Amino acid sequence: MTAELKQTIKDMVVVGKGILAADESVKTATKRLASINVESTEETRRQYRNLILTAPGIEKYICGVILFEETLKQKTNSGVLFPEHLAKVGVVPGIKVDQGLTELEGTQSEQYTKGLDGLGDRLEEYKKMGTRFTKWRAVYSISENIPSDLIIKRNAEDLAKYAKISQEHNFVPIVEPEVLIDGNHSIDTCYKVTEKVLKEVFEDLKKENVIIECMILKPSMVISGKQAENRAPVEEVAVKTVKVLKATVPPELPSINFLSGGQTPEEATAHLNKMHTLGEDLSWYLSFSYARALQGPALKAWQGKDENIKAAQEAFLQRAKLNSLATKGEYSEDMEKEEQIKEV
Ligand code: 13P
Repeated sequence: MTAELKQTIKDMVVVGKGILAADESVKTATKRLASINVESTEETRRQYRNLILTAPGIEKYICGVILFEETLKQKTNSGVLFPEHLAKVGVVPGIKVDQGLTELEGTQSEQYTKGLDGLGDRLEEYKKMGTRFTKWRAVYSISENIPSDLIIKRNAEDLAKYAKISQEHNFVPIVEPEVLIDGNHSIDTCYKVTEKVLKEVFEDLKKENVIIECMILKPSMVISGKQAENRAPVEEVAVKTVKVLKATVPPELPSINFLSGGQTPEEATAHLNKMHTLGEDLSWYLSFSYARALQGPALKAWQGKDENIKAAQEAFLQRAKLNSLATKGEYSEDMEKEEQIKEV
């Protein structure tokens, strides 16, 4: 374990703080901006990143931000490169290094993640720009006979190779196996799939000699499908998520930072909070690495208008604060009402 990796873990695993995912690809950012009728250009994407990343006091709740390549070269309104700005306020800048999804032959249109070719060279460039950790996302759909053994195997192998290469270049890897929420499956089906996926991922990480103490896991929660009729309540999600993690994740892993994956911001916060109030003995830090659940309310408040920037930053900081409280089991639903009253 190098001193650099050790320091990055120390800076990213901080009680009361979590990671912001702000690494939407141009395609996804365009979709997000379209939802508030803002045309997606390099400049509007920069303006939006500026709003979020320069929110005053972001460092109170956020210890790391995952960036997209385009953002690395863009500047804040005051002319500072975004990674430099983050480092200056004490937030670790990181970079999404996967290059999206493509169909895996021999499967029923299941997708694996591209981006291993030339990864080492790209990492050297990203290092020069000040980033210290990486992220790679693999996805698993749930439906009849899906996910297949083939996709589970391929994704685990590639996540492990990516993590190994990242550590060789002194980047802390965030390993993100996302079991998708789309569908009408039950929470128990999600449990079984998540268990199988995580087992395979950790087997392969060990095979590749990835240093578990120097990586972060970014999983989905064990949750009912978004279109399921009777969706499991908050407590069941928390109990089953902690159970699957205890069954599959080695205790030496320092931190587990969940993705929000299409949960509402309130759901994502309530689920994380509940996990911290179950009275379970947890060997890893349990926190968040949300994109939509942190940024959604801010995007809505902004609407692409300068006069809304302050309100949008407040909406983002409020969400970050509530999730910070959730990492300590100190959040309650009433706080959502207080937020609404404040906004009126
Ligand atoms: P969501 O929290 O919106 O799922 O995004 C997390 C992420 O980084 C997806 O790769």
